[in-house]
Amino acid sequence: MTQTWATSGVDLHLELAGRRVRAGLEQALRDAVQSGRLAPGTRLPSSRALASDLQVARNTVADAYAQLVAEGWLAAERGSGTRVADRIAGPDPAVEPPVPAASRPARYSFQPGSPDLAAFPTAAWLLAGRRALTAAPAQALGYSDPRGRPELRRALAGYLSRARGVTASPDRIVVCAGFAHGLHLLSHVLAARGGTAMAMEAYSLAAHRDTVTAAGLAVTPVPLDGHGAVVAQFGTAAAALLTPAHQFPLGMVLHPRRRAQAVAWARDAGGIVIEDDYDGEFRYDRQPVGAVQALAPGHVVYAGSASKSLAPGLRLGWLVLPGGLLDEVVAARLLTDRQGSVLDQLTLAEFIDSGGYDRHVRRSRLAYRRRRDRLAEALARAVPPVRVTGIAAGLHALAELPPGQDEEEVVARAARRGLLVEGLAAYAAGPSPAGPPARAALVVGYATPPQHAFTGALARLTAVLADR
Ligand SMILES: Cc1ncc(COP(=O)(O)O)c(C=O)c1O
Repeated sequence: MTQTWATSGVDLHLELAGRRVRAGLEQALRDAVQSGRLAPGTRLPSSRALASDLQVARNTVADAYAQLVAEGWLAAERGSGTRVADRIAGPDPAVEPPVPAASRPARYSFQPGSPDLAAFPTAAWLLAGRRALTAAPAQALGYSDPRGRPELRRALAGYLSRARGVTASPDRIVVCAGFAHGLHLLSHVLAARGGTAMAMEAYSLAAHRDTVTAAGLAVTPVPLDGHGAVVAQFGTAAAALLTPAHQFPLGMVLHPRRRAQAVAWARDAGGIVIEDDYDGEFRYDRQPVGAVQALAPGHVVYAGSASKSLAPGLRLGWLVLPGGLLDEVVAARLLTDRQGSVLDQLTLAEFIDSGGYDRHVRRSRLAYRRRRDRLAEALARAVPPVRVTGIAAGLHALAELPPGQDEEEVVARAARRGLLVEGLAAYAAGPSPAGPPARAALVVGYATPPQHAFTGALARLTAVLADR
């Protein structure tokens, strides 16, 4: 017999077996505590409330509680009822695996991929959420358009065309759970169309390559040179995934000629260019380049994300799709999570419309530009053979190690000294991806530490590199 009771504000699901109610109740509670399903400190219903729900005598429940208190599973405190005891609740600590040393938190982190999370505009975001939810019709909380809330798609269309030069109309936008989700949808659509491969930059995120292969497409690594991806090597791929504004992780810009070639390839070969504009807002040398998508909106998917501009934990991203792909992507979306969280979408729409997003991006741009300058200066001063390369943009820089230095050894040395940083090799598609750089390098995510820890993290990095 399985039962769920709602009792005096505490819902308790117990599985009772057999006819003897007290013994069954005792065992069900014991099992729930032992398995960790009832966490330490969890308040149990009063014996009166539980007895009433079970339709048994109050003493039956009181006796069961008393027995479990005596055994140490529960704790009874005068005035605060009966709770799950701390000592023996949950899985037996003796059989829990020890925490591996590598997963203990390091003191400092320059791991790429994150903005300064401590600088998230909490107050402004809360205000926007409150305003948005107050103004939203009740229907907004229901199932709605799988492309996303119209308020957000309108706000994004305006923002993207104003700030990134994207040709965007709200009906072509699909709001998704970050770029990772967008790439998942696109890969499945391309595979379902019969596509067999995706051209991807020879240095890229392994997680993105995994997403593509999991959908059944092969990854064709595309060599990179000083002008970005070598477009001539897309082969017979159904699509090419590029980071044109700021190659991740090498940091160069896709040359205008290559941009034109990529679009020409898409037109001639019937391919799709997926433009991952993950950090397009962050360019520090006053030479921002607009989106490739504007050159051929019918052949290029523009993909953006709030992961760098706000926080990756929001899981908010967007695709601006060619008309020919829209229905298939929407159909694939319906089959995964149907639609994204309405509250976050409404909040972001209000945040953009009220100017809060632009203000936050401008503030962050200034802060990250200063950090990049300080990184370049500190390395030039303390370890001149280490070269900072890549354009002045984004949230990471490449620190090329002098010849003879072993990247893996430097990363391990940093970890031993409490600093997390990544080596370039972690991003290589295969053991020897085509094209430069031949040199070992660190990918330094200078936006990652909170502001108060940046100076310490920088000092630790220079000390590690100088091997002091
Ligand atoms: C190259 C690249 N693209 C896109 C993203 C954003 O991914 P998501 O929106 O899934 O958080 C990242 C984040 O690290 C990235 O490095």
